[in-house]
Amino acid sequence: MQHQRVFVIDFGGQYTQLIVRRMRELGVYSEMVPWMSAAERLQKDRPDAVILSGGPRSVLEDGAPDLDLSLVDGLPMLGICYGMQLMAHRLGGRVEKAHDREYGLRNLSERSGLSARLSSDQVWMSHGDQVREVPPGYLVTASTESCPIAGMEDAAQRRFGVQYHPEVTHTPGGKDLLKAFVEAAGLTGDWTAENFIEEQVAQIRQTVGEYGKVLCAVSGGVDSSVMAALLIRAIGPRAVCVFVNHGLLRKGEAEQVVETFGRHFHGNLHAFDERERFFGALAGVTDPETKRKIIGEHFVRVFEDHAQELAGCDFLAQGTLYPDVIESGSSTAAKIKTHHNVGGLPDWMQLKLIEPLRWLFKDEVRAVGRVLGLPEEMVDREPFPGPGLAVRILGEVTPERVATVQDADWIFRTELRNHGAHVGIWQSYAALLDVRSVGVMGDERTYMHPIVLRAVESEDAMTARAVKIPFEVLELVARRIVNEVPGVNRVLYDLTSKPPATIEWE
Ligand code: XMP
Repeated sequence: MQHQRVFVIDFGGQYTQLIVRRMRELGVYSEMVPWMSAAERLQKDRPDAVILSGGPRSVLEDGAPDLDLSLVDGLPMLGICYGMQLMAHRLGGRVEKAHDREYGLRNLSERSGLSARLSSDQVWMSHGDQVREVPPGYLVTASTESCPIAGMEDAAQRRFGVQYHPEVTHTPGGKDLLKAFVEAAGLTGDWTAENFIEEQVAQIRQTVGEYGKVLCAVSGGVDSSVMAALLIRAIGPRAVCVFVNHGLLRKGEAEQVVETFGRHFHGNLHAFDERERFFGALAGVTDPETKRKIIGEHFVRVFEDHAQELAGCDFLAQGTLYPDVIESGSSTAAKIKTHHNVGGLPDWMQLKLIEPLRWLFKDEVRAVGRVLGLPEEMVDREPFPGPGLAVRILGEVTPERVATVQDADWIFRTELRNHGAHVGIWQSYAALLDVRSVGVMGDERTYMHPIVLRAVESEDAMTARAVKIPFEVLELVARRIVNEVPGVNRVLYDLTSKPPATIEWE
């Protein structure tokens, strides 16, 4: 069964992705469609409703982003900010150029229609132009002191516009308004993890055919694990799962990946222990970018060396998520040259790409993973960089230094859990620095390396803030690390936000 779909036509608004997210949170599948390709898409594909996003331009400018509204004739429609102005401009109302931008929280003085459903009068405004006259047949449904037409609608035609932004959390009742639109548009909220799985399984079977084989590189992270689980559900052992242990995972993680695969995926995993190869290649290397490059290259060599085992694969499954698709604005399946996780693949691998998670946000991937029966420790795993601990070890990466960082990291994350301080953390880890400082232990002077602890909260890794961990927990972790981890005599906590720092140290 095809689920209902809403196209969110993007006019370049900074919050468009949030509209898509909010609709999905309401159980309605929605997809972002750039305005420039909207006409072509709408001619091929008819959605169940459309939302017109905000945007930085003025509908009165020459060459402003536009949409031929006859293409969405008869469809329920919600215009937000620029979207509402476009509706007014194109449907016989009037938009006026503003002298000043209106930006910030405002109170609706009057509201009716869809806006009556907001649980609060407060709304977030960010616009220049204003609608001065609504199109024929439309009623004004919201006003503020400075914006007399902050909402308009023709309920009979199921067409609505709001000048404010219901998709941002600054509009406390925003989700109520979107929910009211969902109801008015007759959308049933049929977008569930179960439906997604059913559709993808069918899709994968169709793409791969009766005999095709898919190479699935898994890292133990949530995206590749969910992807592998989906493929195995669709095509069983023809999903050839490969795990490369580069020796740069956290303590016990490599064993955990193999064990979980054994338990949940019936041993469907080729695990290659390549620690020596990676440590050999990284010996003496200290530059962060060179480390990354070496690790990428050696992944490819592992595939080359195991060509016989992996031969016969026609497809490569990649764990691309929807935010990557939105950012790259790219199109679908193509013969691949590069793989964002494993670098350039060798030529003999004439693989076609499949990306079963390319429509999902991270939290949706986690929900799918739960429905597929993956264990919490896999589904809730923190994001972890592809080059692993190599980017958390400043200076040379050696097996001994990896063991140091693994032990410190283990103590830190275990104590966070023991004290319930892990909740809400995006990433937490220990890094090892390549400077030394003086300390004293027993009667001995020491001259050893410091460990840095880092724990951040974040929405999407683009920005991040240090987490306020209780001081007693930090003290306990510091004490345990200097007592239990050889070679460490000092522990620091990184308080820097991103920007100006980054989440990782390299
Ligand atoms: P930064 O350090 O740039 O990291 O703030 C943002 C997010 O990306 C992860 N990260 C990486 N992931 N390969 C990856 O697959 C990498 O080279 C890499 N570097 C950083 C980081 O863990 C954080 O989630």
